[in-house]
Amino acid sequence: MYELSLVIVLTIALTPFQWSWGGRRIDGVHAQLSPRWNVPAIYIFGDSSADSGNNNELSTIARANFPPYGRDFDSHHATGRFSDGKTTADWIRKLFRYNFLGLPLAPAYLSREARMFPFQGANFASAGSGILNHTGNVLGQQLSGWQQVELFLERWNDLAARMGESAASRHLRDSVLYIASGANDFVHNCITNDTDSAMLPNNEFNQLLLTTFTQQLQVLYNAGARKVALLGVGPVGCAPLFLWLLNTTTGECMETVNEYVSEFNDGLREMLVSFNRRNRGAHFVYRDTRDAVYLMAKYPILYGFVNGNTACCGSGNYGGGDRCSSPMSVCGYPPYHVWWDEYHTSNRANNIIARQAWSGFDRSSTTRNSTSTTIYSFLTIQQLAALQLTED
Ligand SMILES: *[C@@H]1O[C@H](CO)[C@@H](O)[C@H](O)[C@H]1NC(C)=O
Ligand SMILES: *[C@@H]1O[C@H](CO)[C@@H](O)[C@H](O)[C@H]1NC(C)=O
Ligand SMILES: *[C@@H]1O[C@H](CO)[C@@H](O)[C@H](O)[C@H]1NC(C)=O
Ligand SMILES: *[C@@H]1O[C@H](CO)[C@@H](O)[C@H](O)[C@H]1NC(C)=O
Repeated sequence: MYELSLVIVLTIALTPFQWSWGGRRIDGVHAQLSPRWNVPAIYIFGDSSADSGNNNELSTIARANFPPYGRDFDSHHATGRFSDGKTTADWIRKLFRYNFLGLPLAPAYLSREARMFPFQGANFASAGSGILNHTGNVLGQQLSGWQQVELFLERWNDLAARMGESAASRHLRDSVLYIASGANDFVHNCITNDTDSAMLPNNEFNQLLLTTFTQQLQVLYNAGARKVALLGVGPVGCAPLFLWLLNTTTGECMETVNEYVSEFNDGLREMLVSFNRRNRGAHFVYRDTRDAVYLMAKYPILYGFVNGNTACCGSGNYGGGDRCSSPMSVCGYPPYHVWWDEYHTSNRANNIIARQAWSGFDRSSTTRNSTSTTIYSFLTIQQLAALQLTED
């Protein structure tokens, strides 16, 4: 029943339909939606779903700067992106560029380009990282959630020194921040048990994640960030790595894992509603990825895929047994696969996820709290970009 209603929702989502902005509820009186775009830069945070090369500069095994990664990227080179082509963050960036000519490139912060083009936004995302400090340490170095926030503040100070404080404030207020984190916290703490806090009871763990995340978002807000899109955690339990690891024979997603993720996403939505109420002028919006990826994995044919549970590049059952490391192990046609490697969705799947986050209708609304029935609708990223913030 649940799946059926999801299919219907997604079918609606994928039909061309302009949602009227007029009916949207927007928190904060000092904002209006305007067709005039006003986004000087985008800043990207998160994990391997967004990393565009930061980990190339770090000592870690969580790297993708070798073939066959990047084979269908613009340059056809492995850049450190965990995809056969673009990441979800890349596709979002591209959607910005279609709609707003000249939007900067957001180069990987640890790369030379980031130092050469300090006004062009930046990408702080780091594969293996999560919200918690120790998440992903087992793989080597990474930029943790807190470190990414600290590097953002470093960039912010640099901009203030170059442009002056008030121009830098306006720049930051109008920029869009994109944050995709949390999945690795579940993977490393709840599934593979490789850290001290492993296997905490689920709601206790969710609370720890949400409290830490809120603190990080508060620092970004206090620095002046106002337009922030947060991607919910995807259905980690459908990834080939876990189908292999947990010896599934049916190819079905591990629903217990997906259940953890859903509880976190529910908590995140509620947290953001109260965050926006508490912080004047804040537009921190939730964008769902779980349902779209879940449906692609479950009903690949509906989306033009042939395979929803086996990695295009990998070996062992479901291609989840070995890391994708050789051009020899690539499948015949990557766009037929939802999963590119044992853990990451393919270029084509990323395009669908990004379009959904950009302008799709989804379940990203939540009741305020248990005693109130008010439905709160988050803006899409497209709407976020079009917001004109006048004062703060
Ligand atoms: C996480 O790391 C940051 C520095 O990046 C530090 O300030 C903070 O106290 C650490 N948090 C915990 C819980 O260890
Ligand atoms: C997780 O790892 C810790 C320490 O390595 C161990 O004490 C604990 O029993 C493990 N938990 C499970 C459920 O395997
Ligand atoms: C999966 O199978 C392997 C080999 O048969 C076994 O060692 C492992 O414990 C199994 N894992 C689970 C989660 O059942
Ligand atoms: C729920 O929302 C109502 C109305 O917005 C508010 O008065 C009430 O304090 C909230 N309750 C909780 C537990 O947050």
